[in-house]
Formats: sequence, structure tokens, C-alpha cells
Amino acid sequence: MKRIFHNVDLTDRNSFHVNQSAETLVEFSSAEDLIEFFSHSRPKKWYVLGGGNNVLFTRDYDGVILTPCGRGISVVDQTADSLTVRAEAGVEWDELVAWSVGRGLWGLENLSLIPSSVGAAPVQNIGAYGAEAGDTIVCVEYLSADDLSIVRLDAEACRFGYRDSIFKHELKGRAVITAVEFCLSKRERPNLGYGDVVNEVEALGGATLGNIREAICSIRRRKLPDTAVMGNAGSFFKNPVVDAARADALRSEYPDMPTYPAAGEGRVKLAAGWLIDRCGLKGYRDGRVGVHDRQALVLVNLGGATGAEVIELARTVRRRVFDKFGVEIDMEVNVI
Ligand code: EPU
Repeated sequence: MKRIFHNVDLTDRNSFHVNQSAETLVEFSSAEDLIEFFSHSRPKKWYVLGGGNNVLFTRDYDGVILTPCGRGISVVDQTADSLTVRAEAGVEWDELVAWSVGRGLWGLENLSLIPSSVGAAPVQNIGAYGAEAGDTIVCVEYLSADDLSIVRLDAEACRFGYRDSIFKHELKGRAVITAVEFCLSKRERPNLGYGDVVNEVEALGGATLGNIREAICSIRRRKLPDTAVMGNAGSFFKNPVVDAARADALRSEYPDMPTYPAAGEGRVKLAAGWLIDRCGLKGYRDGRVGVHDRQALVLVNLGGATGAEVIELARTVRRRVFDKFGVEIDMEVNVI
């Protein structure tokens, strides 16, 4: 079923809670709804908005916002060891994680409480605590806006990388994701290698699925602002990836600087939050916007801010990090 609205206030449809509107908004449940919509109108501009958790509107949107609202989760296949689960694009990410943990299925628990929707998850390959959505995705189903065909793209063809996929490149503006299939394990597969997860899980009594989910939820609640209370889009910047020589030089000057292995030979990932923090910007405020006081990677709307104000703050943060460390940090959030 599809519903069409005009002149839509987007304030509660973006997690930054900036007050912008859209000329038209179409809620769709299935690929067939989209085919019907695109067959009757060819909008000059369209954008897919799931939960609006990774977007910053800097102006009113003079096109069509497409919002998935199919919320089905079903089992499509199983073996002795695993289950293949299909979730429609409109399912809230954490609803899927809770569903899988509730059924004793391993693979998504480290991604608990990420504010996202199933359809948005593959686009930037959401990730946290040593896991990424792409680790469990089997295939992504989308409607091609080019020829209105329904395509099933397997995980390899999705080219998942750190906060990256084909949907940010060749398929940008050409694909509307309608469903995603995940392969989840029936066998125990705890992934406790990241930071303080293992201690938190031990304190709860050991590595059960439920304990891992609870540990991740409490770490996130401690560090990250609740979007319902303070507008934000999670990490505003990506962690920068530099070559090993640059990382070594920085490490000799700043021995406590965290570094992580990155994909690609001789590449090292730095923690943008640490770099911003070391510039003295954690908790920095400028009018109606600021840098979160518990995680410097998160920019926040302190109330009534515009997208332009957030961008201005992002420029300041970026410049300060570059001046101090010579490292460029790029935005993770989509600016519209
Ligand atoms: N750090 C600081 N100060 C800060 C923030 C971080 O010193 O203000 C240090 C931490 O102490 C740690 C390192 O930087 O040594 C990394 O911090 P953290 O573990 O909090 O993770 P992150 O690299 O800042 C990434 C993801 C998060 C995800 C966490 C946990 C990106 C852009 N962000 O953040 O994802 O939850 O790892 O896995 O990769 C998101 O994408 O919205 C998001 C929240």
C-alpha cells in the first residue's frame, strides 16, 4: 500500500530534528508500490529516507521523499547451522536485532540499538563493536529506478567496506532498497574483541546472546545521546584511514592515540572521536549546536538549530583536527 503526502514537515522524520519540509513524501510497502509510483510520475529529484538517522537537511527538499514502511520479517531458508531471514526495508533495525536475539540467532547482537532501518543498513554498511551489517547480509533486493526491474544483489556485489557499499557509488540515486536477507547462526558465535565489551559482558554473567545485547545497549546509552532528547545523527564523521607511515609519525608524537587495522595493505584507521577530543572540542558549544560531551564524534542540535549551523560547526571541527594533526576527517552523514 502506498500513501502520498504534500508539503510534509520533516522535523520528526530526521534524527537531527532540523525543521525542513518536503514537497512530496511517498510511503511505500513493496516494490510493486514503487513500480506503480514511478510508472505514473518521473520526479526530477527523489531521495530515500528511512528512519532519517544519517541525514542532515540544510534546506527544504523540492522533490519526492520515498519512505519504506514494509515491516515484515520472515524466515526464507534454514540449515542445521543457520537461518536465512528476510526483512523488509521499513523494519526498524533494532526490532530486527531484538527479533534475532529472541530466537537465539547469532550475528546481529553487536549491532544492538543502532538507530537505523533495515533498508538503510546496507547503504552505509552500519557497524559497531567489531561487527558490520555486511558480515551477515546474504543479498539486498532493490528496485532499479532506471528500468523498474527488481534486482537481487548478493553480498559480494554489494562491495561492503567501512561505512561503504555500492549503494553510495554506482547505485547512488538509482536504487530503492525494498528488502534485505541475512544469514544468522544457530551456533554460538560471540564477538567480544572490541574495547570494553568483554568486561561488560563478564560483569553480566558471561557471553550469552542476551548478555551481549544488554552490554552493547548499556555502552551505547552511556556514550551516545538519545535522539528523542537531543537531535543528532550518531557519528557525524567517519574514522579516517591513513597510511602506516603517517600513523607511525602521529603515534610517536601521541603514544596514547588509538589505531585500528584497516582494509588495504599498510592502511591504518584512526579514531576521529579521539582526534576531536584532543583538540579540546568535546562538549564545545556554539549557539544552538555542539559537540557531544561523552563522544566527540557526535554533533548535536541543542534545540532549534538549522542544518547550516551544524555544517558550520562541522567545518570548524574539521579545520581544527587538520590544523593539529594534518588529518582530514570526512562526514559520514548525508547532507541534503
Ligand atoms: N575517543 C576519545 N574521545 C571521544 C571519543 C572517542 O578519546 O570523545 C576514543 C575512545 O576512547 C576509543 C576510540 O576513540 O579509544 C574509539 O572510540 P569508540 O570506541 O567510542 O568508537 P568510535 O571509533 O568513536 C565507532 C563508530 C560508532 C560505533 C563505535 C563502536 C564510526 C564513525 N563510528 O566510533 O558508530 O558505535 O565505533 O564500535 O565508525 C555511528 O556510526 O553512528 C556510530 C555511533
